[in-house]
Amino acid sequence: MSLQNEEMEVIIKVKRFSQDKGSWWQEYKLKVDRFTQFTEALRRIKTEQDPTLAYRAACHMAVCGSCGMKINGEPRLACKTLVIDTVKKYGSNVITLEPMDYFTPVKDLVVNLDDFYERMYKVKPRLYPSEEVLKGEAEHRLKPEDQRMLWKFAQCIWCGLCVSSCPSVRNDPEFLGPAAHAKGFRFLADPRDTITEEREKILLDSAWRCTYCYMCYNVCPRDVEPVTAIKKTRAYTKLAKVKSPVIETGEKHTQAVFESIFESGKLEEAKVYLSTYGVIGSLRDMIYLLQSGKLKYALVKEKPVENISEVRKILRGE
Ligand code: SF4
Ligand code: SF4
Ligand code: FES
Repeated sequence: MSLQNEEMEVIIKVKRFSQDKGSWWQEYKLKVDRFTQFTEALRRIKTEQDPTLAYRAACHMAVCGSCGMKINGEPRLACKTLVIDTVKKYGSNVITLEPMDYFTPVKDLVVNLDDFYERMYKVKPRLYPSEEVLKGEAEHRLKPEDQRMLWKFAQCIWCGLCVSSCPSVRNDPEFLGPAAHAKGFRFLADPRDTITEEREKILLDSAWRCTYCYMCYNVCPRDVEPVTAIKKTRAYTKLAKVKSPVIETGEKHTQAVFESIFESGKLEEAKVYLSTYGVIGSLRDMIYLLQSGKLKYALVKEKPVENISEVRKILRGE
């Protein structure tokens, strides 16, 4: 059989939800071919089997950002994922579809994205040009090298997948989230923008609340790399006139990590923790570690790596 004629029957298990009934699983059987994306499979289920099934999709080409969901537990765009590829990847023709995590479900695969949009609008997601440019009295052209740097962060399609999988968004109400940081940095670093100081106030404290887990990097269907935007935003801390306690702790932590690796070539967790939070700040966690029997792991004295001079050269950028 040629690849183009490849066909198979699959069972798609959808985690459904309604305000009245709560959630339940429902199975649909259908034949798919090599070109069937999940949005197409859902369209056929809805038109041929079950008109009550709710999902969102508009462009079917990874542009509108409306079809984010979990496919076999992975946060993905349904239109950018082929059913047969998923069968091959997981070795099973039974596939689960669930709404994105974190957001409140509205119906079946449709979630309420108000929280996402609020985060995006907090970072003022548009260019604020100078008065002269607005009056048509000046031109402000972007250099190709600036355009190349900003391009990646401008590719966000507001799908919400990164936010749905970000642990810091769930644990820290002050954190703006990965997509808002990608958008915020896109304008913070734009030389045509005129509200840099205001943007720093909005973005800097939040940037230090990211835990660098890289989930946003892994799930983004447009390779936006929000975590890279966050790292680049942190570099603006040097210019900040006022630093919040979160920023100060973050800077201490970065310095402590640098010093630990510079001295031993390794990350000595206990030392880094003490340098970051001080003895009093570390006391509560020390008591927890003592009670749970884990203190001995925190106090392991790492042997310096061989060729430490090479490590130091790398850290000095030599
Ligand atoms: S790297 Fe930061 S922004 Fe990205 S998912 Fe992890 S905590 Fe969230
Ligand atoms: S950064 Fe990527 S994953 Fe996050 S909303 Fe934008 S396109 Fe979606
Ligand atoms: S339908 Fe538009 S991004 Fe998937």
